[in-house]
Amino acid sequence: MTHSAPWLNETMRRIETDYNRSADTHLIFHHVPGCADVDLYFKDESTHPSGSLKHRLARSLFLYGVCNGKINEGTTIIESSSGSTAVSEAYFAQFLGLPFIAVVPEKTAPAKLEKIKFYGGTCHLVDPSDIYSDAHRLAQELDGYYMDQFTNAERATDWRSNNNIADSIFEQMSAEQHPVPRWVVTSAGTGGTSATIGRYMRFHSRQYCQTNLCVADPEFSVFYDYFQTGDGALTSNRGSRIEGIGRPRVEPSFIREVIDRMERVPDAASIAAIHFLEKVMGRKCGASTGTNFYATLKIMCEMKTAHEKGSVVTMICDSGARYMDTYYNDEWIAEQGFDLAPYLQQIEQAYRHGMWEDF
Ligand SMILES: Cc1ncc(COP(=O)(O)O)c(C=O)c1O
Repeated sequence: MTHSAPWLNETMRRIETDYNRSADTHLIFHHVPGCADVDLYFKDESTHPSGSLKHRLARSLFLYGVCNGKINEGTTIIESSSGSTAVSEAYFAQFLGLPFIAVVPEKTAPAKLEKIKFYGGTCHLVDPSDIYSDAHRLAQELDGYYMDQFTNAERATDWRSNNNIADSIFEQMSAEQHPVPRWVVTSAGTGGTSATIGRYMRFHSRQYCQTNLCVADPEFSVFYDYFQTGDGALTSNRGSRIEGIGRPRVEPSFIREVIDRMERVPDAASIAAIHFLEKVMGRKCGASTGTNFYATLKIMCEMKTAHEKGSVVTMICDSGARYMDTYYNDEWIAEQGFDLAPYLQQIEQAYRHGMWEDF
């Protein structure tokens, strides 16, 4: 082996210890009074050690880099991320004793920048459209390794099994009243999570052929239109306002072929949804969880209208504690021009009475 075996052995041992020490994230049942015959479950990814669903991806990306011989002793790790991935990668880089640089959009929530620095990472703030090119350049200049989550998320994640989110969800559903969900609803940043779930369901198609995958997309993202048209050249001149999801270009890890349905969710609806969730669940979630919940509620109302019984699973991607300056700040909401009232009313109606009223 060309590389220092002692370093490699120790690195692999450490990555394994992180896995061994971490209990799996919870699957939370939540009763929706308006849709009593449809059981709703939240996969709570905010309880990972580094605080979001990106903990799994970060572990997979480090394994991918180390096992491909790209990451070695002292390698500087560089990533282009809207935040959550950088927080989780900074956590692992510190754990493995490697320098870490996050190339992030300049408007990223201050709390997230603090979290990256908390794990010993350095933040390189750039215009959102430069995050890829600057990360590439830094990797060359520093002879480092660009993790490139947008390209490698679908490659690095083992969708057949081995600690992936789909395996965990279906395993945890197995003793429920409706163990095979009718729908799994998620959103997409890299597209890695939806690709993993879609592929896993096909890989186990004999068990899960009645389960459909829905991906919810925020405003200023091209994924929804790409899903409808297949036009991979689509771009948007504005970045998403829902941190972690929605992209201004079609990302390599977004696999439209494994998705059964997409829902476009207005940003004000995503934020209204997490405010509503705080009321009914007693906890704060990040806005991408709101995007997931809004699309899920719509599907549950449709199932109710069709007199369908069953279960639906969606995701809590991260905690709202990271967004006190934005999605939980009334001044910021007003500055953005978001009117949450009509969506709060729509969500309330759906949640209490199972009726979905588009407006
Ligand atoms: C908070 C949050 N939610 C959802 C996602 C979407 O996950 P994926 O990149 O697997 O599509 C991300 C991705 O960065 C995220 O940070």
